[in-house]
Amino acid sequence: MAGEKDGKTEASAELSEERGETRKSEEPASEEALEAMRVCYQGFDPAAYLQFNYTPPRADFQRADSIVPWKLTCLHRAFTEGDVRGEVLVDVGSGPTLYQVLSGCEVFGRVVLTDFLEVNRCELQHWLADGSSSLDWTPYLEYVCQLEGRQPSESSEKAARLRSVVSDVLPIDVHRSCPLPPDVVALPTGGADCLVSCFCLESVSPDVAAFTRALGHISSLLRPAGHLLLIGALGESYYLGAPGLRIPVVPLDEAQVCASLRGSGFQLQQLSVYTLPADMRVGVDDVAGVFFAKARKL
Ligand SMILES: C[S@@+](CC[C@H](N)C(=O)[O-])C[C@H]1O[C@@H](n2cnc3c(N)ncnc32)[C@H](O)[C@@H]1O
Repeated sequence: MAGEKDGKTEASAELSEERGETRKSEEPASEEALEAMRVCYQGFDPAAYLQFNYTPPRADFQRADSIVPWKLTCLHRAFTEGDVRGEVLVDVGSGPTLYQVLSGCEVFGRVVLTDFLEVNRCELQHWLADGSSSLDWTPYLEYVCQLEGRQPSESSEKAARLRSVVSDVLPIDVHRSCPLPPDVVALPTGGADCLVSCFCLESVSPDVAAFTRALGHISSLLRPAGHLLLIGALGESYYLGAPGLRIPVVPLDEAQVCASLRGSGFQLQQLSVYTLPADMRVGVDDVAGVFFAKARKL
């Protein structure tokens, strides 16, 4: 794990230098900057991350302006509009979370989860095996059941559905032109029918150019005309991946997200923005807002 240096991790300081005056933002991030990011992630603590981001007030199901209900509602709408369909859904950079596939698992016959870190893949595998997890996903399952017009008591059926359709939990590195391991046969030859990715690309990229390139890399996993549902942070420069571990994030604005999608061969179909209410700023990051983008691969 990277050490502390003036309240920042060394990886964070190194990345700040990478973003400094001597380097133009359009130049590719160096392999050293990407490696510093990978090193930084070695200190990621799934249980702490879940506690920081997926409990109240950020996951308050009684409040319509809470961030998690907003995300679940965006995903529910996208997966029920009728045009996002097919057989295989891939979640890029799942982390230790499952909320992002709770709607998609009803539409797709096969769901592939992915993450860079083994600790996160283990967290997901535990839940898939026996429901054990650092976070109780029941309120999430109940909330999405309600969005679908079902009774909250049907959450155990939804959990069973999710377990039955997740076929793989794979390692991934979005900075590689082929992000999945070469021997993986989980995807159809032409690519998946849909990708979902939440808070991954901007949280692992040293600058906007790296974010855009990562978008291009994950596009290679998607078939032409397939959909990308992308959720991410706006105006964020760091988040806590563990107590005291500030993971640098490339601060994005809406225009940059749109330009990166266009530049990576996507047609933007919808962009929604959520602004964080003051009481959701709980000291675990400096995020200003969240975007939800629905895009189609050209
Ligand atoms: C901010 S978390 C997002 C987790 C989850 N998707 C969510 O919505 O909360 C960023 C995730 O990116 C993963 N990650 C780190 N480096 C990566 C890389 N090079 N390629 C793909 N994922 C990476 C981390 O392990 C972590 O799970």
